[in-house]
Amino acid sequence: MKTHRIAVVAGDGIGLEVMPEGLRALEAAASRFGIGLQFDHFDFACWPYYERHGQMLPDDWKEQIGSHDAIYFGAVGWPEKIPDHISLWGSLLRFRREFDQYVNLRPARLLPGMSAPLRRRDGTPYAPGEIDMWIVRENTEGEYSSVGGRMFEGSEREIVLQETVMSRHGVDRVLRFAFELAQSRPKQHLTSATKSNGIAITMPYWDERVAAMARQYPGVHVDQFHIDILCAHFVQRPDCFDVVVASNLFGDILSDLGPACTGTIGVAPSANLNPERRHPSLFEPVHGSAPDIAGRGIANPIGQIWCGAMMLDFLGHRKAHDALLQAIETVLASGGDAPRTPDLGGRASTADLGRAIAEVVGA
Ligand code: NAI
Ligand code: MG
Repeated sequence: MKTHRIAVVAGDGIGLEVMPEGLRALEAAASRFGIGLQFDHFDFACWPYYERHGQMLPDDWKEQIGSHDAIYFGAVGWPEKIPDHISLWGSLLRFRREFDQYVNLRPARLLPGMSAPLRRRDGTPYAPGEIDMWIVRENTEGEYSSVGGRMFEGSEREIVLQETVMSRHGVDRVLRFAFELAQSRPKQHLTSATKSNGIAITMPYWDERVAAMARQYPGVHVDQFHIDILCAHFVQRPDCFDVVVASNLFGDILSDLGPACTGTIGVAPSANLNPERRHPSLFEPVHGSAPDIAGRGIANPIGQIWCGAMMLDFLGHRKAHDALLQAIETVLASGGDAPRTPDLGGRASTADLGRAIAEVVGA
């Protein structure tokens, strides 16, 4: 049995509270399916580490976690102690960039037992599973570049400039990932986010590469929308999407909007992937450290558990992934005294909900 080495980084705030539940569920899945998992815990990427060391990560962080099979991450950020740009740029964003995790992947699926905040135009609610899409965001270049600068600072002539960078290599590799994903799904439908009517150089280039890639995937039905109307469609007919691919900025927006259309942020997972596996990929819930509820043991652990399932899938264990998802759905669907955290309208603790899911996985 191959043992997967997982670097566990819980981080700040509720990261510390949901991580044990993620590990509990993973351990239940590992023992049911005979998967070898070794968890190595790291105490960096959090404000107490920063207070002790004056930096978010040790100098040799790459050596410490670079040869692991995956990074299982909680959340980072504690604005009361450290400004967000220091804590996030000093840790999470370095993992994403320096491990070339160029795909940010987020499912947005309406789970049973969750009331979607959206209704159909006729006023009826969506059924579980009717909203079921994957958002694929480019995660390393595009609008989030460091090319630019400021001139004549503080004067009447002040100028600021920040360039969008799209490389053929960078665009094509994320498109390929998205087309492969679309091809593997029943609907085989891919939507591309664009804005070629306003951003008249880079976005037409993006569209050109989409069209070129589409020729290699004749079975995939492709459409494209400008980002503004696409956001409206997410709200008005979220059931019409399957795989949605977008540049870094547009993907950032859509990958928050998509999960928001399906319920609480506490259940949403995400993966930062290096598909070639030259570096470890990172799996984390969508939410942050939630200082407003941290320390009370009431955070919803489902986002942490679900991204653990995505990690097992990436490591080749599809059945274990499916069992974890099934367990989440079973617990959410069971009414009566099934444990629910306050964000789901209940009074259960993080550990109550985590234990209930782990029990179903192990059963
Ligand atoms: P947040 O996601 O931490 O919280 C937003 C709201 O959602 C809060 O009201 C919170 O209580 C609630 N919430 C979040 N997760 C929940 C869960 N599992 N169960 C129940 N309720 C939950 O975002 P916020 O407040 O903007 O940021 C707080 C800190 O987290 C900041 O330092 C921010 O930079 C950082 N952050 C880190 C991320 C990461 O590590 N990937 C992602 C987003 C924010
Ligand atoms: Mg975002």
